[in-house]
Amino acid sequence: MKATAKANTNIALIKYWGKRDEKLFLPMNGSISITLDRFYTITAVEFKRDLQKDVFLLNNQLSSEAEGQKVFRFLDIIRELSGTDLNAVITSENRVPTAAGFASSASGFAALSAAAAKALNLELSEKELSALARRGSGSACRSIYGGYVEWQKGERADGKDSVAHQLLPEDRWNISILSVMVASKQKKISSREGMKRTVETSPFYTGWLQTIDTDLQKAREAIISKDFEKLGRVVEANALKMHATMLGATPPFFYWQSGTMEVMEQVQNLREDGIPVYFTIDAGANVKVLCLPEDEQKVYEALLTLPSVKEVITCHPGAGITYL
Ligand code: PMV
Repeated sequence: MKATAKANTNIALIKYWGKRDEKLFLPMNGSISITLDRFYTITAVEFKRDLQKDVFLLNNQLSSEAEGQKVFRFLDIIRELSGTDLNAVITSENRVPTAAGFASSASGFAALSAAAAKALNLELSEKELSALARRGSGSACRSIYGGYVEWQKGERADGKDSVAHQLLPEDRWNISILSVMVASKQKKISSREGMKRTVETSPFYTGWLQTIDTDLQKAREAIISKDFEKLGRVVEANALKMHATMLGATPPFFYWQSGTMEVMEQVQNLREDGIPVYFTIDAGANVKVLCLPEDEQKVYEALLTLPSVKEVITCHPGAGITYL
């Protein structure tokens, strides 16, 4: 009863920010992402009869208590679905710069859902797998699919319609996503805590909800018509809007560091020089820069000249779940 799955991480173009149900991970708003080709998690799950408790090995090391608990509680959901009480050995190899604004939880829970469901012979559709992955980490529901993906918030209280679907496969539109690392510090406020505080206390959150459907519509249209500048404009504006909601929270908080600002300014400089290039930022200090493949080298070099930039990794749209 063993299976292994690989999931790529994804970055949000239109952000998920806020839950309407903390337990089921139901979002306040829909979101759109790109699955990336270079950051991934490979997870093997083996259910065994003679095992006293679950064991989680992350990058060849026994996990911490906190990391383990998140994974074991998530496995409980899958055990309940399949009616088993067997414990499991979970072995994960994580190729994502963790806890610095890159969603390692997205690829992590997507790979874990796929491997565990397969190991237990649960024949889940992609939709059902997406709904399951969502319960580990919201953004994980998007990593089931490759390319350009939308997570619809859904209306039902049980969350069955809060699932992702593909808007455009990865091989249909190649754009470049440069992951710019400016900080290696662990972030201080998790996305979970950050979005909760924003929803509960920020007066700007209403503005976020009022404009999100327009942003989603623009991004959807831009992806379908492969209009890069239209996409870039709405992506950058949406990211800034999400970060603005946190400044109004009590107590206020932000994820940016000085390097974050440097990258944002450099992207604007490049744009003034006529290169279509845009940025987005998640719950961390690092920046993701979007451009067309023909401008990739120029943009890469311009970012590396900045003193606070440590590393730039160029990604492209990647595949959904694969089984190994
Ligand atoms: O699913 P989580 O808890 O990793 O939250 C993701 C939050 C953002 O990365 C900021 C936005 C998103 O849609 O991925």
